[in-house]
Amino acid sequence: MRVAVTGAYGYSGQYIARRLLDFGHDVITLTSSSGRDSPLRAMVPAFPLRFAAPAEMAKSLGGTDVLINTYWVRFNSRRFTFFQAIENSRKLFAAAKAAGVARIVHVSITNPDEKSDLEYFRGKALVEDALVESGLAHSILRPAVIFGREDILINNIAWLLRRLPVFGVFGDGGYRLQPIYVDDLAELAVRAVGGTANETINAIGPETFSYREMVEAIGNTIGHPRRVVSVPPSLGYAFGCVMGALVRDVVITRQEIQGLMEERLYVNTPPVGCTKLTDWAKANRDWLGNRYASEMARRVDHSRSYEALRSG
Ligand SMILES: NC(=O)c1ccc[n+]([C@@H]2O[C@H](COP(=O)([O-])OP(=O)(O)OC[C@H]3O[C@@H](n4cnc5c(N)ncnc54)[C@H](OP(=O)(O)O)[C@@H]3O)[C@@H](O)[C@H]2O)c1
Repeated sequence: MRVAVTGAYGYSGQYIARRLLDFGHDVITLTSSSGRDSPLRAMVPAFPLRFAAPAEMAKSLGGTDVLINTYWVRFNSRRFTFFQAIENSRKLFAAAKAAGVARIVHVSITNPDEKSDLEYFRGKALVEDALVESGLAHSILRPAVIFGREDILINNIAWLLRRLPVFGVFGDGGYRLQPIYVDDLAELAVRAVGGTANETINAIGPETFSYREMVEAIGNTIGHPRRVVSVPPSLGYAFGCVMGALVRDVVITRQEIQGLMEERLYVNTPPVGCTKLTDWAKANRDWLGNRYASEMARRVDHSRSYEALRSG
């Protein structure tokens, strides 16, 4: 099959593209970072993710059987907004339909919710609706936190644990989350390429942690066990802003804190991934958190790999 993956030189898209190539599929990518350094560039041709020119996107998708969509934004900024991301996702689905794409595998998030006051989760629900309304055959994968070499959240928790004597969790830290390994998610996505039914799958890994337990487990694993203290969410957010100014990034948003505390990254369904975060962190403890992973650096620099963009 010919399969198009958004962002194949980025994070989850690169694992998905690798698995597709291993299966012998022809793979292309739609991306805003066609110049990004990646070992996949020679094997996965890039076409621009040009939302302003949907006809061009449809042309790029010509002959494509399945589109795997990872496109989304993490927060609002001067450069990008959730509102645009919703509109852009609709344009991408319409372009896929116009191009005759038969199926879309769409990466969403656990607990999307049209009624939520959190734009991330509300926007994700609207995009899922748009996909269903498009009438295209689809699989919707809803991961919680995705961990892997190019991850941001887990890596940056480890980065802070390596540098600070204590670690503050928002509130009591008792809210749960179920991280999934990026290549387990990729395996699900590639399996969904050959699916026939419309489906929605909670893509969660085998371990459920409270946020506090996860921080403690990461600290112990990388050899930096720290006292974990409860802090008011507003204080945690203020600390995140100070750190953000130092590393020139958005470390965490108010909405992300609220989403964590509302247990938006927890679902009551069986795990589908098999890789444990604790095992993976053990195997990768020598480098995990040595360098800071910046979201904004990825959005500003479209030429260096996510790995090369780590700093500190
Ligand atoms: N990472 C997690 O822990 C996590 C957890 C739950 C759900 N998800 C979902 O999983 C999907 C893939 O996430 P990922 O972490 O693997 O992301 P990623 O590879 O960094 O980005 C995926 C795609 O979105 C584009 N993109 C990301 N931020 C953008 C921005 N601000 N403006 C314009 N384009 C942007 C990328 O652009 P380029 O084309 O320039 O590469 C790429 O095409 C997303 O839908 C996300 O919501 C992620």
